[in-house]
Amino acid sequence: MVVMKNDTMELQASDHVVLVRQAVRKWAIDLGFSLVDQTKMITAASELARNTLDYGGGGTVRLEALENGRRKGLRLTFEDRGPGIPDIDKALTDGYTTGKGLGMGLGGSKRLVNEFEIASRVGEGTRVTITRWK
Ligand SMILES: Nc1ncnc2c1ncn2[C@@H]1O[C@H](COP(=O)(O)OP(=O)(O)OP(=O)(O)O)[C@@H](O)[C@H]1O
Ligand SMILES: [Mg+2]
Repeated sequence: MVVMKNDTMELQASDHVVLVRQAVRKWAIDLGFSLVDQTKMITAASELARNTLDYGGGGTVRLEALENGRRKGLRLTFEDRGPGIPDIDKALTDGYTTGKGLGMGLGGSKRLVNEFEIASRVGEGTRVTITRWK
């Protein structure tokens, strides 16, 4: 697996969520993703970007265009130095929220991608990595 291109964007305000959505759309189009796959990745990215802002107190997202043989993929890594997630299984459960949301963001994102990883430490922060292959 080779990283063909990468970029890191700040997530410190709602405006940045819009910029990230636009960037994810552009990268997905450049990779030749179908409209359905573009939309899945943009939707997942919006949810995770929102979590990074709302619960992580802001952070960054790294975009990576991947190639594995002839397969092309898009990997997004959301990282924050917020409070962390004490119980990841619980956080992934549909309907679980500590905020004002529906508690659908993490579980919904997981279902929209091919690979989903969360690493979180209480008091240190959270990293969520998603990958979608064409
Ligand atoms: N980056 C993060 N840092 C700390 N806690 C997080 C982070 N992301 C998610 N969480 C925790 O996991 C819970 C579930 O997240 P999820 O995105 O599924 O739902 P939500 O954000 O509460 O609601 P929704 O996304 O449906 O608007 C959050 O309520 C929050 O407690
Ligand atoms: Mg959410």
